[in-house]
This record gives sequence, structure tokens and C-alpha cells, in this order.
Amino acid sequence: MAIVAVVGATGRQGSATVRHLLAAGWDVRALTRRPRSVAARTLVALGAEAVQVDLDDVVSLRTAFDGAIGVFNVQNPMTSSVEAEIRHGRNVAAAAADVGVGHVVYGAAGVGDTETGVPSWDSKLAVARAFRERGLALTVLQPMAFMELMTDTGFYPSVAVWSVMPRLAGSSRPIGWLSLDDLGAIAAHVFTAPDHWADTELGLVADVRTIDECRSLWADAFGRRPRGIPMPTWMFERFVGADLPTMWRWLRDNEFEMSVETTRSILPDALTVPEWLAGVSRGGPDPLPR
Ligand SMILES: NC(=O)c1ccc[n+]([C@@H]2O[C@H](COP(=O)([O-])OP(=O)(O)OC[C@H]3O[C@@H](n4cnc5c(N)ncnc54)[C@H](OP(=O)(O)O)[C@@H]3O)[C@@H](O)[C@H]2O)c1
Repeated sequence: MAIVAVVGATGRQGSATVRHLLAAGWDVRALTRRPRSVAARTLVALGAEAVQVDLDDVVSLRTAFDGAIGVFNVQNPMTSSVEAEIRHGRNVAAAAADVGVGHVVYGAAGVGDTETGVPSWDSKLAVARAFRERGLALTVLQPMAFMELMTDTGFYPSVAVWSVMPRLAGSSRPIGWLSLDDLGAIAAHVFTAPDHWADTELGLVADVRTIDECRSLWADAFGRRPRGIPMPTWMFERFVGADLPTMWRWLRDNEFEMSVETTRSILPDALTVPEWLAGVSRGGPDPLPR
């Protein structure tokens, strides 16, 4: 079977994509800085080939992409910086174009194709531009909020989604949610029909819920209210930077398109928030070991 190379394979979006690509029968190259990490070895045990790369090293990317018909791309500005995200995305674009990759699926973020002033959304537009300028066939996946924001300790849910986010965005502000597993399923699906999905941007929302609704759905699933830890915005910014507060204020102040139509047309069974919470409360999907 043909090869897809997955950037960020050990991470949240990448690992979900690797799992679905493997299940669909693709040969998968799982790109990582640390092929011997627990997360990378977990993917190898599932059938992927771990390939060592550094996103600052275009030669390593070229080698990793050589012979692949598809590349899944993702960067995380929260663990690097917005500048590094754009630089790394451009390196992926350069390497993919150099070796003639046929289709790039980009795990991005945001609410459309115009600049918002939210740094980690505008950076995605810059990276997408780099792929297009290189003439690559590109599908941009645009999830808004992952359901894992409510549970993944790496997202500090007590402080973020249950406290600072509703304070800044408004607890009755509708938010578009998608589970990471469904992001991976949709990414894998898109690779099966490059001609159909090339040059498209897919706003991915499986359910639209306010934080107030999520709080009460959480209580239904777990039998208790989620714990919120109040924190002043300045202190939150000191820990994680200004990007998320900027995003959440933008959500409060702006109107934007949010529809489950695209997601449901590709994946009719994409999980709603209550379905996903019910699964997690029964011991459902956890992030890969780090
Ligand atoms: N949180 C949300 O609700 C949400 C919603 C929509 C979109 N997003 C977007 O999702 C993106 C983050 O995705 P994610 O959560 O999947 O990220 P993640 O879990 O942090 O994974 C990123 C992976 O990239 C790899 N990596 C980092 N630096 C590297 C380098 N220099 N060279 C090679 N590999 C490198 C790491 O793997 P190794 O350590 O194995 O090398 C890591 O596993 C962000 O752009 C964010 O804007 C988030």
C-alpha cells in the first residue's frame, strides 16, 4: 500500500491520524525527534515505521517524505512558538515540494481564511500559504476546540476550560467541538480521495455546545461537576502566554460560521459532546503515553 508520512505523529492530532491510517491499510511513517520514546514505540507496535526528523532540518524531512504520496502536517505553537510553528510549517512545505508529495493534509485550527489577530490562528494561514505557494495539493482541516480540552491534563482543564475560557469567551458562547479521534478518522478519510479534497478547507465541528452545557453534560457523565480553579488572566498569561486569552476574547466579540455539516458528511457517527464524555467516563480513549 502507499505511504503517508505523519508529522507530529506522537502528538494528539498526529497519533490519532496514524491510528486511523494504519487501520485503513496505509503504510505509515511516524515522524518524531525521538523514535525510541514510549509514544513512538507505541506507534511502531501498531505497525508504523518511526522515522527520526527535526522540523528545523529540511534534509531530514526530505528523506522522511521521499516516496510518500501523502503528508499529514501539524505543529504546536504552544510548545514552541508561533514563529517556530511558521518556520517548521514552511520547512515541511519545502521538503514535500522537493520530493513531489502528491497531497498534504494540514491539521490546522481557526475559523476561516481571514486573519483574526489570534496569533495561533493567523500562523496557520501563513503555513497554508507556504504549501500553496509551493504548488502542493492541500486540504486544510480546521477544528475549533478539541473535546479533550475538558479532560487532557496537558490542557489544564480546571484552570482553562472550566475557568478562564468561560470568563473571557462567555459561558453561554457556542463553541464548535470535535474529538481528536474523529479528527484522525477524517484526516485518514481525506487521504483516500486527494482529487476530491485537494484545495479545500474543512471547518470541523461535530457538536456545538456552550461551556455551561458542557459543564452540565460533564456532571451527567461523571456524577459530579467539573472542578474549576479560578485564576486571574494575567497569571494565566504568565503560564501559557497571551494567545489563548486573545482567542477566547475574539470568540466573545465576533460572529463566525459554525456547522456540523462537513464533519457529518464525512463521518456521520462523529461523537457529540455527551457521547464523547460518556465514553471517557467509562474509561475511554486516553492520549498516548508520553
Ligand atoms: N487544543 C485545541 O482544542 C485545538 C483545536 C484546534 C487546533 N489545535 C491545534 O493543534 C495543534 C497542536 O497539535 P497537537 O495537540 O497534536 O500537538 P502535540 O500533541 O504537541 O504534538 C506535536 C508533535 O510534534 C512533534 N514535534 C515538536 N517539535 C518538533 C520538531 N522540532 N521536530 C519534529 N517533531 C517535532 C512532537 O513529537 P516528538 O516529541 O515525538 O518529536 C509532538 O508529539 C496546534 O497548532 C493547535 O493550534 C488545537
